[in-house]
Amino acid sequence: MATQPNLATRYLGLKLRNPIIVGSCRLTDSPEGVKKCAEAGAGAVVLKSLFEEQIQAELNEAMTTSEAADTYGHAAEYISGYGAENAVGDYLRLVQGAKQAADIPVIASINCTTASGWTSFARRIESVGADALELNVFVNPSAPNRSIEDNEKVYLDVLAAVKAELKIPVALKVGSFFSSMSASLTRLGIRGADGLVLFNHFYQPDLDIEEFKVVAGPALTTREDMGLPLRTIAQLSGNMPCDLCASTGIEDGESVVKMLLVGASAVQIVSAFYRGGVELIGPMLADIGAWMSRHDFATIDRFRGKMRQESWPAGSAYDRVQFMKRTLEGRVSPS
Ligand SMILES: Cc1cc2nc3c(=O)[nH]c(=O)nc-3n(C[C@H](O)[C@H](O)[C@H](O)COP(=O)(O)O)c2cc1C
Repeated sequence: MATQPNLATRYLGLKLRNPIIVGSCRLTDSPEGVKKCAEAGAGAVVLKSLFEEQIQAELNEAMTTSEAADTYGHAAEYISGYGAENAVGDYLRLVQGAKQAADIPVIASINCTTASGWTSFARRIESVGADALELNVFVNPSAPNRSIEDNEKVYLDVLAAVKAELKIPVALKVGSFFSSMSASLTRLGIRGADGLVLFNHFYQPDLDIEEFKVVAGPALTTREDMGLPLRTIAQLSGNMPCDLCASTGIEDGESVVKMLLVGASAVQIVSAFYRGGVELIGPMLADIGAWMSRHDFATIDRFRGKMRQESWPAGSAYDRVQFMKRTLEGRVSPS
């Protein structure tokens, strides 16, 4: 191919110069950090999340301490601490600063667990110039008193409440804790999510067996963790009414190409940049471009989804979960 391949893509209706998004984390918690991401070549950034509790605290700032204690019990002190820090005002300044510092799409992020009063605040994020909003929603799947329907309703209620406030696109970033994942994720798309980010990587517990303590497991992912988003995007992307953005375990240009091949619109990367810096973006883009040239793809749309389940002859390869092999006689046995 004589001309350079074009790495531009569209995600949430936004034009990205390439599919690499720096995901929500400390690298995107300041205008300087966002500027660094843009200078390194990122296609977009997701800002560090603001937490629902922080917004709720600001909304309740007028409450007296005793009112707050009645409402929140032991959480009152923790919540009033949040209010004192003016986290919400700081966040709005972060969005504005990031937009001024960098000429790439800036996606704001809110971490939430309920569709309570905080959702009207989303409009303020839109008013200061965010290009889109990502909602990092987590519903505790191990609560014994909640049904599958109760849990899924939280996602749907959050989405409906925030969509009713905003004109900018809204993406949902979710974990993989759904008992009927494809059906639940498809419903979120049908009910108006502009994009789904698959998946968030949550805190994992580990044990210190000398001190008999529960400790934090590794916070950063590796390429071994990318199988679940790869499989899910391969299975869903042909039938989803919204964009899919891959997240978890994406480390290099090759893993970005894989996610695009199964149908992702873009990818989000955090752990690899914590380890090697956002300076890795340049080599990643060079590797993606070289692969496209080798295979004669002038644009990403020429190959996006080429290996999703429905267009891949051995589609059931993505459904396979057991390590079985077929013997020469045609019998199936564990491999
Ligand atoms: C130190 C650290 C901080 C993070 N902070 C946030 C956050 O504020 N909001 C959020 O939605 N995700 C947050 N994440 C999750 C990442 O955005 C990302 O979804 C996850 O790390 C999986 O991507 P990766 O495999 O590229 O690391 C954080 C991850 C790490 C490691």
